[in-house]
Amino acid sequence: MSYFNLKNRSLVAETDWSKEEFDSVLKLTEQMKGLYYSGQPTPYLAYKTFLMLFFSGSTRTRQSFEAAMTQLGGHAQFLNPQTMRISLEEKPGAGESIKDTAKVMARFGDGIGIRLLDDQIGYYGQGDEIMRRIAEYAEVPVINMASDIYHPCQSLTDIFTMKEKLGEVRGKKIVITWVYSPWVRGRCSVQGTALISSLYGMDVVVAHPPEYGLDPQVLEQCQALAGRSGGSFQIVHELDQALEGATVVFPRNWYSGRRYEQGKEAELKLAQQHQDWRYTQERQRRLANPGYLLHCMPVDRGNEVDSQVCDDPELSFIYDQAENRLHVQKALLALTMGGRV
Ligand code: CP
Repeated sequence: MSYFNLKNRSLVAETDWSKEEFDSVLKLTEQMKGLYYSGQPTPYLAYKTFLMLFFSGSTRTRQSFEAAMTQLGGHAQFLNPQTMRISLEEKPGAGESIKDTAKVMARFGDGIGIRLLDDQIGYYGQGDEIMRRIAEYAEVPVINMASDIYHPCQSLTDIFTMKEKLGEVRGKKIVITWVYSPWVRGRCSVQGTALISSLYGMDVVVAHPPEYGLDPQVLEQCQALAGRSGGSFQIVHELDQALEGATVVFPRNWYSGRRYEQGKEAELKLAQQHQDWRYTQERQRRLANPGYLLHCMPVDRGNEVDSQVCDDPELSFIYDQAENRLHVQKALLALTMGGRV
């Protein structure tokens, strides 16, 4: 397998890079993880700074990126936009423009990370648009740390973790299922995992009550990727049917296509009509084979999935998956901010 030169490349969506380019990241991730466990230093980004704009909250993403930059010998700077001058409104008098913010940040940092989720935007797609505008103006790589549509750092971690645990993933069945939670969650993680699993030739089943259709453009992309990779992609509206024979299950709540129209209260009422949609231990034992638990976390234990499944060391990938964010992101940062000179 060859390495690709990814220096200065931004990563906003799972569809921005080719499979071969992602393979380079996964290969370097394996090496980064090996060096971590053998106590070897990895100062590939000494004196470099990764600027992280968190419009939305985070546990794993912030900590894993900060730890990643420490382990690479550089620095990650946490930025809360509320303490900055930037405005997303982009009209005279509102605040500093996206363009000026991006151009100035690129003078200080060697890379920029952005997290912009659904509660901070006015319509679906706006988070992605803003990230792409920042990427257009910044003369350094921009990494999506989760938007309203995509979460490439998480989905790359998911495919790395599945390869690590299962070996070959091609032809293995992954079920990405809507499940009940009062949290009214975003779509980026499920859409990202659907895209990357399709790219890597898995048999992907997306299951949800009819009201919870995902982004039609993402679904088309999944179909196309599955067609090219030799995998398959299907959507079903019955949970037990979906779980039959599943190797891996990603049970996650997400909002309906009417979230921005009807607001979160109506979304919660709609979700309450489908409280039987849960990945329980009983379903795992009766239907899946064996139904390893993949979850980006935070997980709503007792709603999305039973705690017994989360805590089963034979079944649950969740803590190794969370740790792998660190190693994947070290590889991603080293290739985009360091790279070939
Ligand atoms: N999986 C993930 O992105 O977690 P955080 O929201 O805690 O960063």
